[in-house]
Amino acid sequence: MERTGFGIDIGGSGMKAAIVDLESGALIADRYRINTPQPATPEAMATVVTELVDHFEWQGPVGIALPSVVRHGVVHSAANIDASWIDVDAAALFGSVLGAPPHVLNDADAAGLAEMSFGAGRGRNGVVLVLTFGTGIGSGLFINGRLVPNTELGHLEYHGDSIEKWAAASAKQREKLSWRKWAERVNVYLEIVDKLFSPDLVIMGGGASKSSEKWLSRIESRCEIAIAEFANSAGIIGAAMAAQSSDIAR
Ligand code: BGC
Repeated sequence: MERTGFGIDIGGSGMKAAIVDLESGALIADRYRINTPQPATPEAMATVVTELVDHFEWQGPVGIALPSVVRHGVVHSAANIDASWIDVDAAALFGSVLGAPPHVLNDADAAGLAEMSFGAGRGRNGVVLVLTFGTGIGSGLFINGRLVPNTELGHLEYHGDSIEKWAAASAKQREKLSWRKWAERVNVYLEIVDKLFSPDLVIMGGGASKSSEKWLSRIESRCEIAIAEFANSAGIIGAAMAAQSSDIAR
């Protein structure tokens, strides 16, 4: 791996980028954010991708995290981004504006890579599940440190809908839930994922991990729980790692 990498994390409201020190996972200088264009069409977002790269005058491999199922560069789902993304070859589209195809991967998988290498999952073997609680619920599943991509455990069905609609951090905001009420929902969710995967460790990440003092004491689970160390930067760090690793499936 090169010493530095470049990662972009694309979300429903913002597109964030930074140069990353690949030996420590630290961001080199502040990350730069541009609002996600509305409508968030692939072409409009490709333009913002070039603006982010140009801002840092970055030359080299680029990693891009998207809130979607991404297989071999192609987007296969669009829960919280424009539906026109479905079936788009994102690696080819971004490659056409960047000059070379970036490594495109799911945002929670990217966050998981960062936590497993440099954060709360460092050195952990067995089954480790990284969950991100934000607009949706993202999941990155690791078996002995290797990523099983695109698990999409925010879309487990609960009362006829994706459970993320009920238990993501956005549900707390939307329904004005207390931390106690929201934590109760997270506990239900953790019980379901525990039944399915019996994880050795669950790492709780995403925006909600920044205020873990408000809810962690209310979490009841048979699983060992840890709080993510990189919160909202994890997607950028993992994307930068993926761009320069031959070990992560494209
Ligand atoms: C998407 C996932 C994403 C998660 C977190 C879900 O709605 O389906 O692909 O990882 O949100 O952004």
